Amino acid sequence: MHHRAPIQSKLDIDALEATARAKLPRMVYDYYAGGADDELTLADNRAAWDRYALLPRVLVDVSERELSTSVLGRTLAVPFAVAPMAYQGLAHPEGELATVRAAGAVGAPLILSTFATRGIEEVMAVATGPVWFQLYAFSDRGATRALVERAAAAGASALVVTVDAPLLGNRRRDTANDFSLPGDLGVGNLDGLEVPGGSAGVSGASLAAYFGQRVGRSLTWDDVDWIGSIAGLPLVLKGILAAEDARLAAAHGAAAIVVSNHGGRQLDGVPAAVDVLAELVDACAGAVEVWVDGGVRRGTDLVKALALGARLVLVGRPVLWGLATDGETGVRHVLEGLRDELDLALALCGCRRPADLGRGHVRPAAGSGMR
Ligand code: GLV
Repeated sequence: MHHRAPIQSKLDIDALEATARAKLPRMVYDYYAGGADDELTLADNRAAWDRYALLPRVLVDVSERELSTSVLGRTLAVPFAVAPMAYQGLAHPEGELATVRAAGAVGAPLILSTFATRGIEEVMAVATGPVWFQLYAFSDRGATRALVERAAAAGASALVVTVDAPLLGNRRRDTANDFSLPGDLGVGNLDGLEVPGGSAGVSGASLAAYFGQRVGRSLTWDDVDWIGSIAGLPLVLKGILAAEDARLAAAHGAAAIVVSNHGGRQLDGVPAAVDVLAELVDACAGAVEVWVDGGVRRGTDLVKALALGARLVLVGRPVLWGLATDGETGVRHVLEGLRDELDLALALCGCRRPADLGRGHVRPAAGSGMR
C-alpha cells in the first residue's frame, strides 16, 4: 500500500460513546458499558494500555506498508477483528447486519455471538469477509451440536468458544435495570433449536436467568475435545488468563486463545489482558496463536498488543458505540479510524508490517510501577 496523504484519524471513541449513551435507553447503554461488581477490571482494561510505552526505531524506510497478517492459516487485511457481542439489535435496527457489512469493508472478521439478534444465515448472506461463530456451549450436548453444525453449514470459518462464563458475572447495573430483551427482538441463532428449557423464552427473560437455565456450568477440557471433534473448524478458546490454561489449550488442539477478561464483565479483580499477555505468549510459544481483547481504543493500543506478541486484537465496545450512533457507517468510521491509527503508529515505530513489531518496541511506562 502507498500512503502519500497524511493520515488524519478523526476517531474519538469517547465522543462516540457519549453520543450512543444519549441515544440509547439506559438499560441498553448500561448492559453494553457495564462490568461486574465494582467494575475494577472494566476500568483497568482501559488504564492498562497506558502502563506501556512505545519505543520507536528510526531511519527505517516506511514508505510502503502492509497491515495484512496471517491468522488461522489465512491472510487478513488487518490484524484486528470485531469481538463477539450479544444483542446488537438493541443498538441499531439492522444490528449484526450493519456490523458485518462494515467489518467486511475493512477486511476485519466478525465474530458472531451465539446471542446475536440476527441468525448466522442472515449475517452470512450480506457478509463480504470472514465470519467466525462464538459458541456458548449448552448443558445439553444435542443442542450444542445442532448449533455448531448450523454455524458450520452457514459458512462460519472458525469456532470461538467462550470459556470464562460457566455462570454470568454479577452485573450490578443489569440487576438494577432489570435487563431483559424487548419482546420484538429474537435470538436468531437459537430459532428452531431444541434448547432445554425452551428456545423462544429468551425474550423478556433476564439474561442471567436465561444463562442459568441453558448455558453449561459443567464445561471441562473433555467438552473442548468433543466440540473440536464435531466442529471441523479451527477452535479458538476465549477467556484465558492463566499460563497453565494457555498450555492446556494448546494440548487440547486449540488453534488460538483469546487472552481476555470478557470486557470486565465476568470475574472482577482479574488482571487486564495486556498485563498477562507476554507471559501467555511465552507459555504456549508457537503452539497456538495468541489473541487479546479488552479496553482497546487507539491504534497505539493495537501496536502495543502486537508488540507483546498478540497475533490478533479484538475490538468490542467501540464498535457498539459506532453502531448505535450511525449504523453501518458508524461502525465503518470506528474500524477505518482504528486501521488508520494503527498504520500511522506502526510507521512511527519504524515498522512496515505488524510482524515487524517485537518486544523491543514496548516497555513499562515511567510511573507504571512495573519493572
Ligand atoms: C454476554 O456474553 C455478555 O457478556 O453479556
